[in-house]
Amino acid sequence: MNPKYYLSRCLILSIMLLLALVCPSPAQSADLSASIRVNLQDQKAPISPALYGIFMEEINHAFDGGIYAELIQNRSFEEGIVPPGMKLVKNANGSLRMEIEKLPPDVPKDRWDMPWPWNGNCSWDPARELIGWSLQNDGGAKGEMKITEANPMNKASARSLELTITPPQLSGGRVRLINSGYWGISVQSGTTYDLIFYLRPATFAGKLAASLESNDGKILAVNDFGSIKPKQSWQVFTAKLTASGTDPKARFVLSFNGTGTLQVDWVSLFPPTYKNRPNGLRIELAKYLEDLKPDFIRYPGGCYVEGLSWESAPDWRKMVCPPEDRPGMWGYWKYRSTDGFGYHEFLQFCEDIGSDAMYVAFCGMTVHPDNNWPLDEIQPIIQRSLDAIEYAIGPADSNWGSVRAKMGHPKPFPLKYVEIGNEHPPAIYGDYYKKFRDAIKAKYPQMTVIMSMYWSGLNRPAIERAGDNNIDIVDEHSYRDAAWIRTNFNYFDRYQRKPWKVYVGEYASHNAGGNWLCAMGDSAYLMMCERNSDLVTMASYAPLLCNVNLKDWGINLIEFDSSRSFAHASYYVQKMFNENRPDVALSNTSEISPKPDPNTPLMAGKFGLGSWSTSTEFKDLKIYDDSNNLIFSDSFDSLDNWQTPGIGTWSVESGTLRQTDAGQSPSMLLLKSPDLKVGKVTLKARRVAGSEGFLMFFNASSIDRFLFCNYGAAGNSFHAIQDRGSPDGSAFRGGRNTPGKIENERWYDISLVVNRSRAEMLLDGKMVSDARMETLGSFFASAGYDNDEKAVILKATNYYSTPLKTDIELDGASSVESNGKHILMKSDSLFDENTLDNPKKITPKELPLPNCAKKFTVTLPAYSVNILRIPAKK
Ligand code: AHR
Repeated sequence: MNPKYYLSRCLILSIMLLLALVCPSPAQSADLSASIRVNLQDQKAPISPALYGIFMEEINHAFDGGIYAELIQNRSFEEGIVPPGMKLVKNANGSLRMEIEKLPPDVPKDRWDMPWPWNGNCSWDPARELIGWSLQNDGGAKGEMKITEANPMNKASARSLELTITPPQLSGGRVRLINSGYWGISVQSGTTYDLIFYLRPATFAGKLAASLESNDGKILAVNDFGSIKPKQSWQVFTAKLTASGTDPKARFVLSFNGTGTLQVDWVSLFPPTYKNRPNGLRIELAKYLEDLKPDFIRYPGGCYVEGLSWESAPDWRKMVCPPEDRPGMWGYWKYRSTDGFGYHEFLQFCEDIGSDAMYVAFCGMTVHPDNNWPLDEIQPIIQRSLDAIEYAIGPADSNWGSVRAKMGHPKPFPLKYVEIGNEHPPAIYGDYYKKFRDAIKAKYPQMTVIMSMYWSGLNRPAIERAGDNNIDIVDEHSYRDAAWIRTNFNYFDRYQRKPWKVYVGEYASHNAGGNWLCAMGDSAYLMMCERNSDLVTMASYAPLLCNVNLKDWGINLIEFDSSRSFAHASYYVQKMFNENRPDVALSNTSEISPKPDPNTPLMAGKFGLGSWSTSTEFKDLKIYDDSNNLIFSDSFDSLDNWQTPGIGTWSVESGTLRQTDAGQSPSMLLLKSPDLKVGKVTLKARRVAGSEGFLMFFNASSIDRFLFCNYGAAGNSFHAIQDRGSPDGSAFRGGRNTPGKIENERWYDISLVVNRSRAEMLLDGKMVSDARMETLGSFFASAGYDNDEKAVILKATNYYSTPLKTDIELDGASSVESNGKHILMKSDSLFDENTLDNPKKITPKELPLPNCAKKFTVTLPAYSVNILRIPAKK
């Protein structure tokens, strides 16, 4: 992603987050009611049988330290390897960063496609080579450790740990090599852990033991390996450690009692795994995914697929061998992946939970727009993806199919989709896609070949280059603020239908922490997808998994630490939507009564003056209505017209209003009356001292919630209309900036024009910013039909803070049985969320739905997502 776009995306997102946080739902009226009318005879598109999928990416320690059950962090001591194609460069302050080795000289070093989280380019900490490991010397023994590249254990593991141990002074003295796991090792009493590690004793002679110890040093399990003799070759050690106690923050310890120098490598510890698979998955995290019953799984990225350099992009061929033989790779999300949960394990997991597999292939284009594999030499990279398909579905005696058979799986895996790269903005990506698709279709015509789009919206120039008829499906991502769907419920209805379909490979409504408001937004988003199932045939939320100790991304679906986990409310929304997926959409309309008055001025409210860390003066204030009639003016003889004392130090003198406290941010004085509804304000303002300019407040409902014209914002660098929240049920849009400064001791003409839903900010007669206010939809519904059960499935989301009596009418039903089901999710506040401490705060409940009929009434609670299953024959 271009940094410029990225920054503006961040800015827009954060403004929207704030906005959505503070303006949840419209003002309530006690007699508000709703109606939904469904026509059973007007059948729309079938709901796609592939709509509900999941997306697994190595981000937030989703795999290592997450669903991949390995408990030892940095098990083969490779974490400090600089990714191929990258080099380390010293910053002015002595710290290190990574740069691409071979960029053309005219390409700016800080140019990244998607710089986040690489602000300041890839920072690098040399100490990370020993991440997870520490040494403790007991009883006069002394140990020293360092990473070495001498005598590697195998080709995949270039590095190992060298330990030099001097003899203990006490008989029990020892050197303890400790691994703290991924923010603690979760040890459960009675559970048996499988240990394997490799040792090259070299000159070491002495005793060796392995143990699991609680955080406060109690032994929870131990295995004595007895005496070790000096030897120059690598030896493997295994043990089963059965714990006698529980500690979520336990650690693993190798104890050496003796003397000499030795090497350690590939220390691996596994708890029992999902379906008891060796090298398998953490059970409860895998269960969350199994329970979603996903139609497909997308893997392994995301940005992860793109690689920092093409040399370091993930290569599935290095992941279809025993885990010890996998070199691993530094990933886009700033840590090294062991690739333990590799291509083979991904395919196995798809089979285990009955999902189709979607493999996202590296397409030769990296995350850096100037570091791409040349298009005319792309054949070897295309071959890599053809080989990946052969590995998954080729006959057991084919080149790669035989490797699969050797890995213990002669039968094909359920690979159905291949995606070509991820989020590549340049138009030339269309040419890359076409080359890949042509080659894949020629050999595997049954394969759906997905074209990647942007992080939001379509990449039309790339589509044009590939040609509509050469595209199966496009993967459009959708990270939006939680309010977005409330004004864009018709987003996909507006799409022109083309020969290709849409896959929303990454979507998520964003608001603080992934709260109930987000989940409600996701519910409306999914309704929109179901309603447009002729176009949107697949969707998957992102990111899926997140270790709370290292969040690369703010809003994720399932979070966990070493022993605990929870799913956000959006997980349960997706689950209940999937479990209640109709076969076909039905036409429906929904309404709120009384209807919102389209003439209500959305920007009406209190008017005020102020400043940010600046002392200012104002004079000649005039307020006009929308017919240009003067409705207020102030000669500033007194402060009688204002809500005194306000914030700051306010006074009047000789027809001038003064604010003399440059320490207030903001200072504020609100007019008692009239409120500013629609019309115009003009006045003069002068900066006396301080760091910014003037503020003009409007649409204020209190001293904490307002819109404002900010002259000399952000350290006196630009002018813009900004918001501190917006009124209930509305969304603030716009507020573009004009660069500029406010100078001292100069009178400026400032003015504000307010229409029903739009405001303009002027400085010396020139418009410097404008903004809009939109009314947010607060009630959404969609309908479909379950052919087997003969039931109407109605989905409805109520954002209002009061219950909605809702009249349901089923047109074209020949008969309706009275007893249906109401699956309900609700919470008292839009800002509630599930957490590690309260993991099930918001989950669905199934209630009876009595009295169903062709026309009946049901109450949909405040802040609720509802699914009504109504037994009805057509
Ligand atoms: O889901 C997190 C990231 O968002 C993905 O890696 C990338 O595809 C998108 O920009």
